[in-house]
Amino acid sequence: MELDKSIEKVLVSETEIQDACKKLGAQLTEDYKDKDPLLLGILRGSAPFMADLIKRIDAHLEIDFMTLSSYHGGTKSSGEVKMIMDIDAPVNGRDILIIEDIIDTGRTLKYVREMLELRGASVKIATLLDKPSGRVVEIKPDYTCFTIPNEFVVGYGLDYDNHYRNLPYVGVLKEEVYTN
Ligand code: IMP
Ligand code: MG
Repeated sequence: MELDKSIEKVLVSETEIQDACKKLGAQLTEDYKDKDPLLLGILRGSAPFMADLIKRIDAHLEIDFMTLSSYHGGTKSSGEVKMIMDIDAPVNGRDILIIEDIIDTGRTLKYVREMLELRGASVKIATLLDKPSGRVVEIKPDYTCFTIPNEFVVGYGLDYDNHYRNLPYVGVLKEEVYTN
């Protein structure tokens, strides 16, 4: 396949991701029954995870999305989180479950969590990937599918320069992709 040619190695396979969605979906079905939570995806990276995960949850829920940006086309976080698109529904008193593709420094989620809590929501976090070694602020996900080493990854929503989000797995890019 064309895109595979840019990948050095696969870190999390398509099957592993789908199995993790099933497992987490079953857990959330249990934890959120009778709660009608709002699953809040952080765009754009969380889109594939959100789509697969909600199909595995057998309980009433709503979904919404927020766009934030902390990367500016490279592989290092800029340290500044910017709100690009907010949600307009009131969240006071709601059970929110943030759906994230990856937690690295933790800055993005700390920013969102504090903002939503100020608005009166109760907030939990589900992430597909966690890179705990990249953390610069204190943030702990409530649900994590995979813990990975401190490597820059792409695929299944994660991008390099807005590309590679459509890979069905999570992998590491070949060095030459960055240098070309
Ligand atoms: P944080 O604010 O540093 O925790 O970064 C969170 C955001 O940075 C994620 O939602 C991703 O969009 C992006 N990010 C962090 N690590 C990676 C990576 O390895 N590949 C692609 N995007 C990443
Ligand atoms: Mg993201």
